[in-house]
Amino acid sequence: MVFHTVLLKLAEWVVYQLLANSCYRAARKVQSCGCFFLRIRNPSPKSNPSPQSTPKHHLPPAGFPSLAKFAGGNKVGTLACDFQGALLRSSSFFPYFMLVAFEAGSILRALVLLLSYPALWFLDSDLQLKVMIFITFRGLRVKDMESAARAVLPKFYLENLHFQAYQVVASSGSAVVFTSVPRVMVDLFLKEYLGVEDVVGTELVQVSRGKNGGNYFTGFVSGNGLVVKHRAVKDWFGDRKPDVGIGSSSSPQEVNAEKWVLILGLQEAYVANKEDSNKMPRDKYPKPLVFHDGRLAFLPTPAATLAMFLWLPIGIFLAFFRLFVGILLPYKIALLLGTMSGVRIDFHDSRDRAETEDPKTRNRGGGVLYVCTHRTLLDPVFLSTCLQKPLTAVTYSLSKMSEVIAPIRTVRLTRERERDGETMQRMLAEGDLVVCPEGTTCREPYLLRFSSLFAELSDEIVPVAVNTTVGMFYGTTASGLKCLDPIFFLMNPRPRYSVRILEKLPAAMTCGGGGKSSLEVANYIQRQLGGVLGFECTSLTRRDKYLMLAGNEGIVDSSPPTSTKH
Ligand SMILES: *[C@@H]1O[C@H](CO)[C@@H](O)[C@H](O)[C@H]1NC(C)=O
Repeated sequence: MVFHTVLLKLAEWVVYQLLANSCYRAARKVQSCGCFFLRIRNPSPKSNPSPQSTPKHHLPPAGFPSLAKFAGGNKVGTLACDFQGALLRSSSFFPYFMLVAFEAGSILRALVLLLSYPALWFLDSDLQLKVMIFITFRGLRVKDMESAARAVLPKFYLENLHFQAYQVVASSGSAVVFTSVPRVMVDLFLKEYLGVEDVVGTELVQVSRGKNGGNYFTGFVSGNGLVVKHRAVKDWFGDRKPDVGIGSSSSPQEVNAEKWVLILGLQEAYVANKEDSNKMPRDKYPKPLVFHDGRLAFLPTPAATLAMFLWLPIGIFLAFFRLFVGILLPYKIALLLGTMSGVRIDFHDSRDRAETEDPKTRNRGGGVLYVCTHRTLLDPVFLSTCLQKPLTAVTYSLSKMSEVIAPIRTVRLTRERERDGETMQRMLAEGDLVVCPEGTTCREPYLLRFSSLFAELSDEIVPVAVNTTVGMFYGTTASGLKCLDPIFFLMNPRPRYSVRILEKLPAAMTCGGGGKSSLEVANYIQRQLGGVLGFECTSLTRRDKYLMLAGNEGIVDSSPPTSTKH
């Protein structure tokens, strides 16, 4: 009995002391923000400021035309623009914090951020932002944030840009973006992709930990607090006002379009309505999006993130099931079970059956050289499964684990042209060989430059157009753990592999029979595969990819990459 009472008392204490106290503090904050909010809106507040009176602005404020009315084509001088809800279509920044939490932080951090979401509902927008910043950035390495800003976020920003607002930015002489979200999350994108002159955003506190610890975020915003946009605009421009302002129509921020535009007394101001925004078409991207990194293939809104976490246990089970089916069982059964577990395989072989099986067409007794586009490191595995015969794959930097679990034979190359040529020649004499001359994977509809080494080895060349679709996780990575690539790919609910085998290269287009140079052959096949897939051919290489995504050349040893052209 006594124990019982003590327990009750303790519980009471916890509830009152901890919860009530923190609620009280939160409520006070909310109230003070509320006061501030009302002061801005109405210089002489008569009514009692209460947090409940914070209105949600969903209607475009009267008097401010929506961007749909902006006469396109005319040049704008200086422009002040909001980010979330204006240049970016969504007014919720949660998915972008989630991206940083997941990709730069860890899955645990992402889970904590997701679990905090219901609580965010009860906070006012400033506090919401501060809580999201704290969870996302507490103890995060600055370096990791920077690489996420470079390799992960631009893709999602581009896909969610407000097209009309972007057009105004693009046509302006100089644009400055004012946002209350952390500057580190948007700075690189706005400057490198949109050519924005300056970005004013909330600054975060960084500390340095030890000699080699690098810099970390503390999770707090700097002494100036969150950026108050209208004030920031005034500070930045001083007396010369920007010519045009674009604000958000539904910004939950205390100072939204209506107000900062009103306060500044701009002549021209527009509201970026979500309703009249188009998604940015891919061909209008200011910079082509060829490379990006990160595991998440979807925009992690709260609902989508929840779905992902619920899927995880099933996904992990499925991934191992699919993996072991692929390794242990014969092709036919593996295909059947794989398809039943949700893997979609589109296979198409354009070759003449008689021709592929006629031994006379095989010259020099060697095998066929399959030349594949490279989407994930499973390309050779799926090709082998579809063909239902064993192939040998040549690889550059397969992780040990992938090498061990690979259901087909893999041979390591060295990136030394002579030695690799000999190795491949030897393999080819023993049987069919798969090469991915791009040398590295690409997720977007582009083909990288084809290394031409393969063209010198054989005239029996068969191009293979491979494409993949994933809905949840990318099965490739530039800076993450490569050994998890196949697992992540197979964890998708419905991963799709499409394998399309084209006709054998005509003799006139080969090195031996046609007298073409290996470079001509490589370029010809690249164009052909690009045409079949509708992908754009580029001259980018593995080196470009790793320089862009990871800031290194993607090679562990110091030997220079195989020179493949000229
Ligand atoms: C290739 O995959 C991408 C990504 O899923 C898809 O959008 C595209 O339509 C596919 N292209 C072809 C030709 O199958």
